[in-house]
Amino acid sequence: MLAVSRARRKMGSVDIEVRPVGDDEMERFLDVFDAAWGFVHDEGQRRHTRSVVAAESPLGAFADGHMAGTAMSFSMELTVPGQQRVPMAGVSYVAVHPLRRRRGVLRSLMRAQLDDLHARGVPLAGLGASEAGIYGRFGYGPATWDSSWRLPRGAARGLASGDHDCGLELIDARTARELLPAIHERVRRDQVGDVRTYSGRWHDLAGDGAPPGTRFLLCRDACGHPSGYAVYRIRREDRYSAHASVIVDHLIALTGAAYRGLWAYLADLDLTDQVIASGRPEREPLRWGLADGRQLVVTGVHDHLWVRLVDLPAALRRRRYAAEGSLILDIADPFCPWNEGRWLLEGGPDGAACRPAGQSPGPVLRLDAATLGSLYLGGASVMDLARAGRIGGDPDALRQARLMLGTGTTPWCSTEF
Ligand SMILES: CC(C)(COP(=O)(O)OP(=O)(O)OC[C@H]1O[C@@H](n2cnc3c(N)ncnc32)[C@H](O)[C@@H]1OP(=O)(O)O)[C@@H](O)C(=O)NCCC(=O)NCCS
Repeated sequence: MLAVSRARRKMGSVDIEVRPVGDDEMERFLDVFDAAWGFVHDEGQRRHTRSVVAAESPLGAFADGHMAGTAMSFSMELTVPGQQRVPMAGVSYVAVHPLRRRRGVLRSLMRAQLDDLHARGVPLAGLGASEAGIYGRFGYGPATWDSSWRLPRGAARGLASGDHDCGLELIDARTARELLPAIHERVRRDQVGDVRTYSGRWHDLAGDGAPPGTRFLLCRDACGHPSGYAVYRIRREDRYSAHASVIVDHLIALTGAAYRGLWAYLADLDLTDQVIASGRPEREPLRWGLADGRQLVVTGVHDHLWVRLVDLPAALRRRRYAAEGSLILDIADPFCPWNEGRWLLEGGPDGAACRPAGQSPGPVLRLDAATLGSLYLGGASVMDLARAGRIGGDPDALRQARLMLGTGTTPWCSTEF
């Protein structure tokens, strides 16, 4: 439930009120969302969206008697370094009506939402940004990255030879909706950067929201337990052509055998030329399994999950650190001033403490909230951010931060929300 029931702000000459959206206002919520994004949704899709959104305390921003903007957040859990799982508000459905843009409606929504999350003790917020220029000012920083790539047919031949622990079967959508969520749930608990998914996600992957022609490939281990899956479709320009692409929308594996078995199948389907995958980890392990790694051609890398520390000391306490040590973080956070100032972080592989630093001596790192969000999952390099002017501190502080905050693994969020 929202702790802040109403927040009224004067933005220039416009009076904006942010408050929960009632059931009787959901149609307007969807109208604003569709208008902002340029969507034309049919009644079935709107009914589905309405049920997903209405369950999550949606917010509306009202100006001049109109609903001008929308936002909501899913109650999620984010896996952070040390395989700790931390409550995260998964911010979504952010939209401002095109006739009411650039008057501070988004700013009012962000204000009300972050105040509410802070009041409720939610340590983290996360979102996927439609444009990279929007959310830094609100303290969000990109923290995971996705890659898109293509691979010619046959390039993964031999990848699964000798494996006997992946029996493949094609399953129907209903079975996929039964089996896939549990596999994802097991994988995401250990995958730094991934989140507990929400029910609407399966509607989009394996329900009415899935693209036509979607297929579901299941892998079972030698004991018959589901150990991985792929959601894919074939895109053929012309139905009589032998040239087609295997579009992989989602692939999750609990074991190496499942990972190899699924890709080996997808990359050698008759009447296809290539695999096209998106939303994949920035560093796809598959490359190492190919006889010629250059055949996997990365066509794009882009930010996915943006992280915002809502309650900075609580969030820093919840992750683990690669090396034992202490560090003073001097934080600029004008949008959430309760996080501003000097914090003493003491942490290591087994736990961490974080409290106001007072006059404690020690290496000091100077950074803003968005930069800390980018560092939080270990996916951004301290040295890169310092080189880019995003972090200040003497060489001792930078070295200490690199040792503590780096993880040696690449965070990945497999879940769109
Ligand atoms: C992006 C969007 C939400 C912005 O809403 P808005 O009400 O116009 O934003 P505000 O007027 O509150 O602007 C707040 C700040 O963000 C900036 N901003 C707004 N949209 C921006 C954009 N697309 N890129 C960069 N900065 C942007 C504003 O300049 C303003 O800056 P400042 O106050 O720090 O100087 C709105 O244009 C929209 O709905 N777009 C289409 C859907 C979308 O992209 N939603 C975001 C989903 S992740």
